[in-house]
Amino acid sequence: CKVVVLISGSGSNLQALLDTTAQADAPFSVCAVISNKAEAYGLNRATQAGIPGIVVDHRSFPNRGAFDQALIKEIDQHKPSLVVLAGFMRILTPEFVRHYGGRLINIHPSLLPKYQGLNTHQRALEAGDKTHGVTVHFVTEELDGGPSIVQAIVPIKEGDTPALLAKRVQRQEHTIYPMAVSWFAQQRLQMADDRVLLDGELL
Ligand code: GRF
Repeated sequence: CKVVVLISGSGSNLQALLDTTAQADAPFSVCAVISNKAEAYGLNRATQAGIPGIVVDHRSFPNRGAFDQALIKEIDQHKPSLVVLAGFMRILTPEFVRHYGGRLINIHPSLLPKYQGLNTHQRALEAGDKTHGVTVHFVTEELDGGPSIVQAIVPIKEGDTPALLAKRVQRQEHTIYPMAVSWFAQQRLQMADDRVLLDGELL
C-alpha cells in the first residue's frame, strides 16, 4: 500500500508513520510527502528518510480550486492507495475530497464531534473538561465531520496548559495514526455510506 502524506508543519505524525515503515513487517510505505509550505520541518524528515518532499505552495494559485487541482495532479503521479493528512492546514474543496473518496484520512486533536476547527486544547481547558483526546477520521465534505476510525482519550490534569495538553495528546497521535494507516493498508478498514467498517463490522 502506497501512501502520500500531506503536511504544513513539524511533521511529528509524519515521523511516526515513517518510523513504522522502517519496521520489517510494515504494511505500507510512504511514497511522497507534499507540503504547502516550503519551510515545513516535515520536509526534512522526508529527505532524511529518502522520500521526495514536494512543495505545492497555495500562494502560487489564484484560488482554492486551482491549488487543489495542482495538488491532485501531484498526488496522482505517485498512484497512492491512501492520502494521509498530517497537520495539513488547508481546507480542501469538495472536488478534492470526492476525488479521494474513501481513501483520504485526517487526524484531528479533539474527541470529535467536540471541538471541530482550531485551538482545540485551549477550548477543552476553557470548558473545564476532564478528558480530551484525538480522532483519526475519514475525510468527507464536512470539515472535521467525517466518520471516526479511532480515538484516544487523555486526562486533563490540574495545572494543565494548552502546550502540556497538546504534548499529552500528540503522544497518542503518534500511536493511533500509524495504527489506522496499517489497518487501511491491510484492507481491514473501509468507508461505506459515511460509515466505517473495520474487519467487516460497522464501528
Ligand atoms: C497535530 O496535532 C494534528 O492532530 C493536527 O495538526 C498537528 C500536526 O502536528 N491535525 P505534526 O505536524 O504532525 O507534528
